[in-house]
Amino acid sequence: MASDASAILAHTRSVVYLDDGEMVVLTRKGYHVRDLAATRINKPVNQIEWDLATIERGGYDHFMLKEIFEQCDTVRNTMRGHLLEEEGTARVSGLNLTDDDIKKIQRIVITACGTSWHSGLIGEYMLEELARIPVEVEYASEFRYRNPVVDQNTLVIGISQSGETADTLAAIREAKRRGARTIGLVNVVGSTIAREVDGGIYLHAGPEVGVASTKAFTSQVAALALITLRFARLRNLSILQGRQIIQAMKALPDQIQDILDRADDVKDLAERYWRSNNALYLGRGVNFPVALEGALKLKEISYIHAEGYPAAEMKHGPIALIDENMPVIFIAPKDAVHGKIVSNVEEVRARGGQVIAIKNNDDDQIKRLAAATFTIPETLDLLTPILAIIPLQLFSYYVAVRRGCNVDQPRNLAKSVTVE
Ligand code: G6P
Repeated sequence: MASDASAILAHTRSVVYLDDGEMVVLTRKGYHVRDLAATRINKPVNQIEWDLATIERGGYDHFMLKEIFEQCDTVRNTMRGHLLEEEGTARVSGLNLTDDDIKKIQRIVITACGTSWHSGLIGEYMLEELARIPVEVEYASEFRYRNPVVDQNTLVIGISQSGETADTLAAIREAKRRGARTIGLVNVVGSTIAREVDGGIYLHAGPEVGVASTKAFTSQVAALALITLRFARLRNLSILQGRQIIQAMKALPDQIQDILDRADDVKDLAERYWRSNNALYLGRGVNFPVALEGALKLKEISYIHAEGYPAAEMKHGPIALIDENMPVIFIAPKDAVHGKIVSNVEEVRARGGQVIAIKNNDDDQIKRLAAATFTIPETLDLLTPILAIIPLQLFSYYVAVRRGCNVDQPRNLAKSVTVE
């Protein structure tokens, strides 16, 4: 008996999931499940598809590094079978939503915690930009205790790697009580959230063991792109625009591999900056949540104080912190707000800050201004987070290793927070 299937994978792949109000009686001879009135219940036996190799380190020093390096495959797995190239849309039948249901959605509320909340913010940019549906992203811990405005025309999307986070589960239950339709973006098959929502998408990223979430994040963003594509095509996205997005999505796995092949360049960067006590991450638009996630990765595993901010908001506070000891990491691809971010880079430089920039190939302007750069391949603006986060994950990993931290099990943190 275990709280997580991966703990017993070495012994069996057949599992029975208990629901609330159920108990199991285990004896030498077998087991039976009863409810609290002691009535016997017949529970289905589920088969887990993961094998032991997927929860071993496979030659990597840490699970986190292995999981970062798996992202070429995991993002591909998330998209597999969902892209309908000819029609320029996505098939996401697991949502259990008809075309009519989708057209009736007036509002979307995304609720999650930690890294999953950051992917939710990226989903907000995608869904509002392309599907033109108003989206709010809320910490599950706040949502559950507010008096949220949700009704039957609101779609509530819960995002959770584990599918067991107590706050996210409670938020989804509250949304259901108020009549909202709920869908889940969940990685762990058969988890409580996956079982309780009205529909959803499994991420198929495989087991994530490192406490700091990496591959689940990129898969969550890919899954949000699938949902966006489906919703947007039923509203005002043209077939040609849809096809263009699909082309860009299909190119992502190779582009991720291209970044991973240059991991040593990020290691060199970490070698230059691992002694810092603070770091600031800045991005604009859809890359603002990437700044938040980059900062979270660094603080979680290296214990360096790091903050993520929208780049333009820097002048309302964080700019006071900038001096020659402060690395400032800019996510600065050549997107619609590139000119603005160049000005922000100049402001940091003028105050002696050490600029590290994530940029695109031909961007000499940023190259001239930054103390260090890392190049990512070009993609559509809205898909950039899937590429931009990878060097930031690697950076925090190498910094933490250099500082001698326990990367896979950072102090005070848990992989699944199943209590309040
Ligand atoms: C914990 C983990 C984080 C994770 C968060 C939400 O804090 O350490 O890595 O992002 O929970 O978890 P979930 O499983 O719901 O995505």
